[in-house]
Amino acid sequence: MRFTTLTTFAATSAAAVVSPFAEPANSMGFIGCSMAENVAQGYVAVQGKRMWGPYGTSGMVVQSWTNTNSQSWQLFDQQAARYGKPTAVWIQICIFTNGATYNEVKQLIANTRQHAAPGAMIYITGQPLYSAGQSCFLAGVNGPENTDALAQQAAADASQNVTYPGSFLLKQGEVLDGCHANTQGQQSLGRQALAFWG
Ligand SMILES: *[C@@H]1O[C@H](CO)[C@@H](O)[C@H](O)[C@H]1NC(C)=O
Repeated sequence: MRFTTLTTFAATSAAAVVSPFAEPANSMGFIGCSMAENVAQGYVAVQGKRMWGPYGTSGMVVQSWTNTNSQSWQLFDQQAARYGKPTAVWIQICIFTNGATYNEVKQLIANTRQHAAPGAMIYITGQPLYSAGQSCFLAGVNGPENTDALAQQAAADASQNVTYPGSFLLKQGEVLDGCHANTQGQQSLGRQALAFWG
């Protein structure tokens, strides 16, 4: 009964998108590159609240996050200072054509634990995958698939305690420049993020 009432309210009021069971707004952080920004842009556009909005992570592939004192982590810490240390963090494994190793991925996870709130839940994914015939030239041939495989490897590794929610997908008509999402693609990614972690 109560749920029905709230659903009705949500359908009639733009202000009611936050359900009584939602995690607090901006309590979830993320790391990644411009492809993570594409997700965050779309997430904000489709009224996602839990995760931070975009914060200037363009070009920040795995190697930008392996040093815990890097400029990228300083940017992350600025967000954490603004919103409180995140109780959940999404790690997007993002690469240029030089790729990344599993050891580097483990370093990202360790650094994430250090910068997040104690006991934070960590989600891990690769870059978005693409429907047939498309890919991301910046990540190279099979680059997106390789990042997805690394994310699944980490999730299968009990010592890492991270969760793989699935892969993001960019479909035909959602790609701007041979890699990044257009406006429609961003919103599609944003809806996928909402389905993964609310
Ligand atoms: C694993 O992560 C969860 C949060 O997702 C946390 O509550 C738990 O304490 C962690 N377990 C270990 C052994 O670190």
